[in-house]
Amino acid sequence: MVQQAGRDIAPAKGKLGVMLVGLGAVSTTFIAGVEHVRRGTGLPVGSLSQMGTIRLGKRTEKRSPKIKEFVPLADLKDLVFTAWDPIPDDAYSAAVKAGVLDRHEHLEPIADFLKGIKPLPAAFDQHYVKRLTGTNVKSGKTKRDLAEQLRQDIRDFKKRSGADRLVMIWAASTEVFLTPGPAHQSPQAFERAMEQNDPAIAPSMLYAYAALMENVPFANGAPNLTVDLPALQQLADERRLPIGGKDFKTGQTMMKTVLAPAFKARMLGLAGWYSTNILGNRDGEVLDDPESFKTKEESKLGVLEYILQPDQYPELYGNVFHKVRINYYPPRGDNKEGWDNIDIFGWLGYPMQIKVDFLCRDSILAAPIVLDLALFFDLAQRARLSGIQEWLSFYFKSPQTAPGLYPEHDLFIQQTKLKNTLRWLMGEEQITHLGIEYYEKA
Ligand SMILES: NC(=O)c1ccc[n+]([C@@H]2O[C@H](COP(=O)([O-])OP(=O)(O)OC[C@H]3O[C@@H](n4cnc5c(N)ncnc54)[C@H](O)[C@@H]3O)[C@@H](O)[C@H]2O)c1
Repeated sequence: MVQQAGRDIAPAKGKLGVMLVGLGAVSTTFIAGVEHVRRGTGLPVGSLSQMGTIRLGKRTEKRSPKIKEFVPLADLKDLVFTAWDPIPDDAYSAAVKAGVLDRHEHLEPIADFLKGIKPLPAAFDQHYVKRLTGTNVKSGKTKRDLAEQLRQDIRDFKKRSGADRLVMIWAASTEVFLTPGPAHQSPQAFERAMEQNDPAIAPSMLYAYAALMENVPFANGAPNLTVDLPALQQLADERRLPIGGKDFKTGQTMMKTVLAPAFKARMLGLAGWYSTNILGNRDGEVLDDPESFKTKEESKLGVLEYILQPDQYPELYGNVFHKVRINYYPPRGDNKEGWDNIDIFGWLGYPMQIKVDFLCRDSILAAPIVLDLALFFDLAQRARLSGIQEWLSFYFKSPQTAPGLYPEHDLFIQQTKLKNTLRWLMGEEQITHLGIEYYEKA
């Protein structure tokens, strides 16, 4: 152990194995991007861990190291990858089909590397993702058997890759909407439910359970319940493992959690917010199923309520009409277009409108988030942080929190929380932005 002024953090020695559930658009864009950065043929744009700096001490001290030089993160050259997917395409074919990265510029030069990543058979059940059929699927009499097979996959990958440490990230399709029930209340109830093939246990939960039983941190990039359950939270606490989710915060919701806090900061009212999207990738196709869409809708709708606090500001936010639509439109592929029509009101109630048209690339925005989560969850484990990692809310649309706490959705509160956690880990002073010392001399 290296003794830090703040917290003992085990050094990032050896390889870090990144286990991805799902080898689709996001995962392949992430893996290919990391390989380009390692080869010096691309920049990790959008990754706070790689490009961001952190101010330390007073403004006059002029200390702003890069985050990756300040905290002991795994180096990109030490990352190794594996994935599960019910579709048997290797990372090269999956990336070609996803159509995110330019084939000639970004896929052919690293084709051999990508072809070497072949998906392990998935724990998959069409009941939970209606619009997918897969052939690369595990079989087992019970869900418990499937979880045990996933645990074996984890052990095998660790051996095969020589990885020192592992993290697992769910970047697979959004599952149908589920609410926590009796099967999710304790690890014992959860295990019994797996043995009884209880429909309350979705495949994503089996991966999360397997990860925790193998001492692997788990982050959930989709809105499914997955690890947002008392049973798995208890398991993570007992086994002292970091967990987190849900749903990568990338395009429209990222913008929403920047704009809504601005309206609230200025005490401008909100009458309505209509958000719609056209999206043509496989994610869009899966979300075309009303049951998967409901899971996503809940995740996207939640943010305004928490940011605007209508109970505290009934005149401004007591009557907001908020609507979110996602429309599957194949010609657009991964290049989503998200429109927001925002009806705000000002002084004496006069109405105004704001229109946002975000022509984004979904997986280009998500890939750096996967990277940061992999690195920060590994850091969390080496720093012996366990349970829900609220400081990583910055990356999620529906951040998990301790029971009884409401989530912070404001992107800049989340950023402050993340950076202050890094300062705290390294024994540096918190930055409060008070700054009175620059003006009032003792
Ligand atoms: N791209 C973004 O901006 C963004 C933002 C937030 C959340 N997400 C979520 O991330 C996830 C991945 O997005 P994507 O664009 O890569 O989708 P994708 O459809 O391209 O890839 C998902 C992959 O997961 C696989 N899969 C489905 N069920 C599985 C299972 N049980 N086990 C293993 N693999 C399974 C599918 O076969 C598919 O290949 C989706 O749930 C999406 O909603 C994406």
